[in-house]
Amino acid sequence: MMSNPANKIIVMMMFVGLLSSPNASAHSGATGVVKQRMDAMSDMADAMKAMASVVKGKQEFDPVLFIQNGEVIVGHSDTLLGLFPEGSNEGSSESLPAIWQQWDDFVSISDRTKTEAKELVKMAKNGSELRPLTKQFVKLAGNCKACHKDYRKKK
Ligand code: HEC
Repeated sequence: MMSNPANKIIVMMMFVGLLSSPNASAHSGATGVVKQRMDAMSDMADAMKAMASVVKGKQEFDPVLFIQNGEVIVGHSDTLLGLFPEGSNEGSSESLPAIWQQWDDFVSISDRTKTEAKELVKMAKNGSELRPLTKQFVKLAGNCKACHKDYRKKK
């Protein structure tokens, strides 16, 4: 199970920053597509948090949790790219112009996120145990992190 401290540390590290809710008031002015993608991202963060609580042993293992939350991420990654029209990083947006300068790379990270989330759902449906699910979860989280590293303003 998740008693391996090294795994725990990896998971904790991945979530520092990644899932910390941004200053809500800083985003209260967001509108339109910027608001839509912030909401989509927050939704994905909630899904990741729900799975993380199982991975960290704070909640009992239930494959349904990985299926449902994995599907939330698959669903959002389907529409994510449409929420980044060129140059839409004004106001309280934390999007970097690099998104549109390196659009192909941005697209491929988004595609990978979807692929890894789909794999997680499939594994959970096929009766996978917590350990391999955790590995896949960490892989998925790595894509959130990779994209933020290059394309989201540091706070
Ligand atoms: C393809 C790139 C990409 C992927 C993949 C990605 N994000 Fe993001 N994320 C961004 C960008 C860019 C922003 C900044 C959006 C803005 O403010 O305009 C962001 C913002 C966020 C925010 C802040 C939302 C807000 O209210 O301001 C959270 C939380 C977040 N992402 C979580 C996640 C999680 C969890 C995942 C993985 C399941 C993920 N993201 C995957 C690019 C990505």
